[in-house]
Amino acid sequence: MWRYPKVLAHRGGGTLAPENTFAGLRRGMRAGFRAIEYDVMLARDGVPIVMHDPWLGRTVAGSGKICDYDALELAGMDAGAWFGRAYEGEPVPLFVEFAQYCKVHGVWMNIEIKPVPGHDTETGATVARMAAALFAEELAAGQLERAPLLSSFSQAALEAAREAAPRLPRACLMDALPPDWERRAGAVDAVAVHVNHRHLAPGQAAEIKAAGFGLFCYTVNDPGRARELLGWGVDAFCTDRIDLIGAEFAEA
Ligand code: G3P
Ligand code: MG
Repeated sequence: MWRYPKVLAHRGGGTLAPENTFAGLRRGMRAGFRAIEYDVMLARDGVPIVMHDPWLGRTVAGSGKICDYDALELAGMDAGAWFGRAYEGEPVPLFVEFAQYCKVHGVWMNIEIKPVPGHDTETGATVARMAAALFAEELAAGQLERAPLLSSFSQAALEAAREAAPRLPRACLMDALPPDWERRAGAVDAVAVHVNHRHLAPGQAAEIKAAGFGLFCYTVNDPGRARELLGWGVDAFCTDRIDLIGAEFAEA
């Protein structure tokens, strides 16, 4: 069962603002979104930051690995200039501040745990522990629809997240659905399966739903395709094109 919003702004504001930044989040909110997906990894000091790539060079100028820097060093770097002059000086967000901002503003979160290679367990456990602390009251009250959904391509990260915060829901992220998808989802008590819509067939969608899992697709940028996926029983999806696919798209 999917108890969450149906359309999420990917990486905060899709491709309309620098990804995984406060500016992106605010852009998504201005477009009416109150649900987002974003990526989290650990800096060298073990502090989680909001970031997609495990290396510098694309969204943050420089070279080398993200995990060669402490979180506060990264927070002082520019994650907006690559996107345009108007975003110069936009910092790399600390996860705790980003998540708090979302909570305060009523923005529901699908937090993608994106470990830098070799740090799966530590990343899964840290992100889950911090997210569970932020939503301790909601989790204690059983208000699971308000708590974030943790997802990851890393099975080890999801296992660690379950150990650290068993009550915080998890989802298995997969590109093409592997033959053992149900075993993998079951192994971490996942509530949902998140897949790349490009590889999903309608029969697989039906199979996932029949097995009782929520079904989420990334990253759907064409309104016609979004409509087709919803017709297959897909519960929700994220989009980069928040200008073409609005937050209420699935309700129409
Ligand atoms: O969580 C869905 C999607 O974001 C997964 O791929 O590379 O965009 O983080 P990626
Ligand atoms: Mg992601």
